[in-house]
Amino acid sequence: MSALPTTVHVCVSCRAEGEALEPREARAGARLHRALVSAAAADGRDITIVAVDCMSVCKRPVTVGLSAPGKWTYIYGDFARVPPEDAALTILDGLARYERTEDGIIPWKERPEALKRGVIARLPPIG
Ligand code: FES
Repeated sequence: MSALPTTVHVCVSCRAEGEALEPREARAGARLHRALVSAAAADGRDITIVAVDCMSVCKRPVTVGLSAPGKWTYIYGDFARVPPEDAALTILDGLARYERTEDGIIPWKERPEALKRGVIARLPPIG
């Protein structure tokens, strides 16, 4: 397992289909961010969760990114399709698998379904 810190970026601007612009804290992205922070704390997970205002994947809400030094960065979407508490648990599951890899590439067979369907892009490690 890598000892390097992992960061999860969550777009708090993302809205589910038909959701109102205001209040912003009621948006699907903001709700997922809160659910993820809560689930990570309950699980005792030492991860960094960063709220982001738009990751330019607005047609696939909610957008989430997983990254860590020396690893591939993955961008996933479509988390607005399930309740935020469920999405948060899926993300934490995927994150645990991500953390166990050396390069950030979770073997396809081991990926949660939402990470198979929701993958949007991956970027190679820097350096
Ligand atoms: S509003 Fe979430 S990616 Fe643009």
